[in-house]
Amino acid sequence: TRPDDHVIVLFGATGDLAKRKLLPGLFHLACAGLLPDGYRIVGSGRAHSALNDDAFRKHAHDAVSTFGRCEPSGPVWESFADSLSFAASDPPDAGPLLAAVRAAEDSLGGQPRRLFHLAVPPAAFGSIIGMLGDTGLAEKSKVIVEKPFGTDLASARALNQTIHAVFDESRIFRIDHFLGKESVDNILALRFANGMFEPIWNRDHISHVQIDVPETLGLEGRAHFYEGTGAFRDMIVTHLIQVLGIVAMEPPVSLAAQPLRDEKAKVFAALRPIETGHVVRGQYDGYRDEPGVAPDSQTETFTALRIEVDNWRWAGVPFYLRSGKKLAQHHEVITLGLREPPLRMFPIDLPQQENYRSNKIVIDFADPGWIAACFLAKEPGPTMRLAPEAMTFRYADSFCQEHGLEGYERLILDAMLGDQSLFTRSDGIERIWEASTPLLENPPPVHLYAPGSWGPEPAVSELIAPHQWYLEDAG
Ligand code: BG6
Repeated sequence: TRPDDHVIVLFGATGDLAKRKLLPGLFHLACAGLLPDGYRIVGSGRAHSALNDDAFRKHAHDAVSTFGRCEPSGPVWESFADSLSFAASDPPDAGPLLAAVRAAEDSLGGQPRRLFHLAVPPAAFGSIIGMLGDTGLAEKSKVIVEKPFGTDLASARALNQTIHAVFDESRIFRIDHFLGKESVDNILALRFANGMFEPIWNRDHISHVQIDVPETLGLEGRAHFYEGTGAFRDMIVTHLIQVLGIVAMEPPVSLAAQPLRDEKAKVFAALRPIETGHVVRGQYDGYRDEPGVAPDSQTETFTALRIEVDNWRWAGVPFYLRSGKKLAQHHEVITLGLREPPLRMFPIDLPQQENYRSNKIVIDFADPGWIAACFLAKEPGPTMRLAPEAMTFRYADSFCQEHGLEGYERLILDAMLGDQSLFTRSDGIERIWEASTPLLENPPPVHLYAPGSWGPEPAVSELIAPHQWYLEDAG
């Protein structure tokens, strides 16, 4: 199904996210024939960075050429470029924006729907939402709000109140683009469309879970955003804990938005508050020399932590979460470590003892992604020597990627269609901030780590002992 006609207003249209993901993503939706028959995209930004319509078209062309997957040329590009316009908005002054939205609506005719995408720093959300309410633009409209949603429990609650004063929950789409990733969505299929994984998906069979998202990238010119955010708020409290919600949830009664989000909310309700002693924070050596970073910055570029889900399925199973900038490798990997069998009946030498830990399910969710079931097999020969092996499913080998959508593309499409299944909900977000409060109030010191390493030593060894990080182990 294609969405009804839409006017999409992109706040932060000249920013980094719009350039890297949103403009290329919208154009890819156009190429895939998934945008509505009639659509207009109004870019918006503060007056000091305002562009005229042609300059915005050129900006979008550059963004799509650099970061997009389809060539910005030919008839699809022509009509996409024609749909673009730009209006400055400096809340509470909404004059130019109001005029641009009206012009876009008139040019489409009928009663197009409105979708506002707030691709701006959290501090700017409130004034934009207020402006949308005051001008009546919010009426019968939907709003996409970027992460991080608040910076702690109090600010998330205040933000929810501000938004709820203007939009009801059914029209709020809090976006977390990890939830739009094909391989994250596939976790639902893996778990609930098959009879083979779910019976072992619990504390009786799983010893620990890792959700590991090391990045090789550094700041990429985002010091202003990152200094006030840090790795915990940028990645853990948002993306990684949302992924944890899908890994840990009970089977929903259906895939509709409400049951799906109810089950995730129950996982978040069961999160044990994150204790400072279970967290390692790091900062890469050289971070303080980056342009825009304070010379005595305490912002963490790395966080690894242990968290528990206190319910019947997961009691006593540690979940280890890790993410950081400028690390040794770039991956997005979930590992479920399986318990050892009750008896070690195979003759083993010492290095092979480690192999008993090799039963794992590994889910790589960096699109296109793969899943491996790791097990022990007998090496050919007269003696019973075992070696770790894997059965692997690779998305790229099994399915044509042509119709695949990136996280943002899938979610913007879902927002146009009004489907909230893959968006976060106010109660869940507030609960995650609540569980984060002990850490936020009493953060441990940041350890320096060498760029290109796996982060501070205590995260490599102590935090996860007696287990090991799958990625380091796999080399
Ligand atoms: C963003 C973070 O939300 O996600 C970035 O702000 C991070 O710091 C990015 O690099 C990772 O997303 P992806 O889709 O590139 O894995």
